[in-house]
Amino acid sequence: MMERRYIEFTTPESAEVVDDTVGAPGDDDVIISVHHAGINRADLLQRMGLYPPPEDASPIPGLEVSGTVAALGKNVSDFAVGDRICALTHGGGYASLAIARADHCLPLPDSMATEQGAALPEALLTVWYNVFERGRLASGETVLIHGGSSGIGSIGIQMARTMGAIALSTAGSSARCAAAAKLGAQYVANHREPDLLGQFSEAGYAGNIDVILDIAGGDLMQTNLDLAAQDGRIVCIGVMRGMQSEINLATVFMKRLTLTGSTLRRLETAERARCFQSIREHIWPAIINGTITPIVDASYPLQKVLEAHQHMQSGRHFGKLVLDCRLI
Ligand SMILES: NC(=O)c1ccc[n+]([C@@H]2O[C@H](COP(=O)([O-])OP(=O)(O)OC[C@H]3O[C@@H](n4cnc5c(N)ncnc54)[C@H](OP(=O)(O)O)[C@@H]3O)[C@@H](O)[C@H]2O)c1
Repeated sequence: MMERRYIEFTTPESAEVVDDTVGAPGDDDVIISVHHAGINRADLLQRMGLYPPPEDASPIPGLEVSGTVAALGKNVSDFAVGDRICALTHGGGYASLAIARADHCLPLPDSMATEQGAALPEALLTVWYNVFERGRLASGETVLIHGGSSGIGSIGIQMARTMGAIALSTAGSSARCAAAAKLGAQYVANHREPDLLGQFSEAGYAGNIDVILDIAGGDLMQTNLDLAAQDGRIVCIGVMRGMQSEINLATVFMKRLTLTGSTLRRLETAERARCFQSIREHIWPAIINGTITPIVDASYPLQKVLEAHQHMQSGRHFGKLVLDCRLI
């Protein structure tokens, strides 16, 4: 038994530190001594009671961590106690110890701080599954990754470039557009300015975009359909602009578009493991050589989780926010 401290949201506006113990790891699992935990929008919704975790998940918040391996299940041979790793958790990341399947873990390069490592698993997997698998983005194609200033978008632009695609993006101010362009986006439009479609038209991209990762939904959807190329694929993963969209279906059949989406929390364990294997092959070498760099805006002590959530809610961050779980 190992002692653990974790965060429990007793109400949407109060967080308590709770003590318990963790038993031996499952056969395919690792127990991680958590240094940092990544914050995701889903955590904010879970705190507010709007996104209950799946039944088989830990009720403790936190979907991704980095740290060192503290214990191994008997089937785990890829890692050793003390290895530095990052991992996707099935909940339970806001804690001093977290549990993850070994095939949902990635070894951290020596040069990468755990603060940065915690920013990777959820974003890598979300982009890989939605852009490269569901969206079938191929080398030489053009992809629009909305929200280049977001945790997802800041990694997504870099992944698209690494895979040989032309990346376009959107962000909410000229400074944020410039910062997203620096990550490798060839053109970044300002989604807070009127006429997003017009901005892309003027830049010569409207009607020529093969894959679109939509993080906002609502009224953005028709713009996506108008921006897409013939046989384009639109993948929706978020609804910050609304769950309902009014779209012109003629655009879909005239251009033979595909509209799809997914949510990572509901993706089967084996599918996640398969995606991690692809990430190891196609993306991890670029992480090791520094071509892809996780962007961490700020790190908060785990006890200040409500402040950190407030920061994300305000939308002032660029890239990811993480929690430091070492001093809890
Ligand atoms: N389905 C899944 O499996 C999955 C997994 C992970 C994340 N997500 C979703 O993906 C989205 C991004 O997540 P994240 O953690 O990367 O979020 P984040 O870091 O908080 O970033 C939010 C992004 O949304 C942009 N944005 C805000 N309001 C917008 C609007 N009205 N129209 C267009 N863009 C707007 C922001 O741009 P500016 O701040 O520059 O204005 C920023 O780039 C969230 O909706 C999240 O729920 C889904």
